[in-house]
Parts: sequence; structure tokens; C-alpha cells
Amino acid sequence: MKLTEEQVAEFNEQGFVFVPELYSRAEVDVLMAEVAPLFAEERRENVREKRGGVVRTNFAAHTYNDAYRRLSRHPRLIEPAMQLLDGPVYIHQFKINGKAAFNGDVWQWHQDYGTWANDDLMPEPRAMNLAIFLSEVTEFNAPLLFIPGSHKGGRIDAGHDVTTTSYPLWTIDDETIAGLIAENGMYAAKGAPGSGLFFHCNLVHGSGSNMSPWDRVIAYISVCHVDNHIRRFKRPEWIAHRDFTPIECLPDDCLLAPAGTE
Ligand code: SIN
Ligand code: MN
Repeated sequence: MKLTEEQVAEFNEQGFVFVPELYSRAEVDVLMAEVAPLFAEERRENVREKRGGVVRTNFAAHTYNDAYRRLSRHPRLIEPAMQLLDGPVYIHQFKINGKAAFNGDVWQWHQDYGTWANDDLMPEPRAMNLAIFLSEVTEFNAPLLFIPGSHKGGRIDAGHDVTTTSYPLWTIDDETIAGLIAENGMYAAKGAPGSGLFFHCNLVHGSGSNMSPWDRVIAYISVCHVDNHIRRFKRPEWIAHRDFTPIECLPDDCLLAPAGTE
């Protein structure tokens, strides 16, 4: 799948592009059916919230779950990424964020490239996120918040927050955020299950805590141009991957095809 010229222009201008109905209900059902069993596993890849013991983020499911392995090679994600990053890509990080009803905690304001540069020595911001909504995202269950156009200023100084949540993050101070919002406003990414959201690794984003009775489940595939692979292997392999092989796409119907289909 290729993005239109308008979608590419929107990505370049806003730092993101929202694609409704990227996946069908049947495809979302395949992915969603795996979430509860994955989250129920006692494994290091399940990072839990500070409160409630619920899963905040499940990492690297594409390396041990067949449905997510297929998603990680899906042409509706990988082809647009290759188009936007201008060449072959590998998977830098793969996560399913649970943002559980009542207990899903905040993601402080940050740029992903801040963490990827500081921790992983990724040379350039030639990387991006591919998000797939697995549940409905509304104003109530803590949608992802963007500051449109904030990717254009490049990397912003960040501090390493290891206390606020259960997951350490390079975060941006309130004054800088207030200035950026005064200039650009905010956008809340809401939509039905199956919606796609592609965003630049320097786009400033975050999300609040989920006070609603509805889980907000989103899968994120972070891809990087193969020439721009990380240079430092400080974080665990299941958080910052070291397989820089270019992704080869599977057929478009691979999520609904019988198990074992390559
Ligand atoms: C992230 O920034 O990586 C996740 C934010 C969210 O899922 O709300
Ligand atoms: Mn992020």
C-alpha cells in the first residue's frame, strides 16, 4: 500500500497521518484475541504499571506470537514506512500498550527519538512509529496526544524520568511543552479499532491516565531505515532490537490466512 501525495504532505507538515479503517474488524479480532493471553504471561517482556499489576507494555510479541509476527511484516504498514523513510526498514521496537481501564498510567510528554538517540545511539531521526488501534480510542480512555508540527524543530533537550511511571523515558519539561502548544495546539488521536496512525520519531507526544472503564489497546511498530541502525546495545534486545535485516512484506491477507503462512 502506498500513501497518497496528500498523505505524505500531511505527514511532512504535521508529523503524523491518521488512516481510518486501515484494518478490518476481522483482522483486528485476530490481533485482539492474542492480547489477553499475551498479557497473562509471566515474562520479562510484560512491563507492568506501578499500580494494579496490569500490563503497561508488552514488548517484542512479533518474536514469539504468530499473529504479531505477521503484523510486523504487513504491507499496509511496512510499505508506507519505506515510502516515508525512503528505503528499507528494520524493526527497532515492537510494543502493545494496554492502557488498562482505571489503571493505565500516563506517558509523559516526549519524543521517541530522544530515547533512541540517548539510549541506543540511533544516528539520525530516520525512524517512525506505525500505530494500530486494537480497541476504540475516544476522549475518555486516554488517547495519544500530539503537538502537530513539533517534529520540525528536531531533537529537544530531555531529562531521564525514572520515577513517574514504571518505564524510564526521556521527557520534555513543562515550559517547553507549553511553548510548543501555544504555537501549534494539540491533537487527540481518536478512532475505531483498525485505525492506523503513522508518526515521525521527533513528534512530541504523550497520553494521560485512563480513568475510564474501557481499555485502550494500541500496537506500535517502530521502524528505522536500515542504514540508520542503532550503534549502542545498552538496553535489552527485546526493547531495542539488534536484527537490522530489511523487513520483507507478507501478502496483504496474511492476518486472515491460515496459521503458518509465510
Ligand atoms: C508511547 O509514547 O510510546 C506510548 C504512548 C501511549 O501509548 O499512550
Ligand atoms: Mn513514544
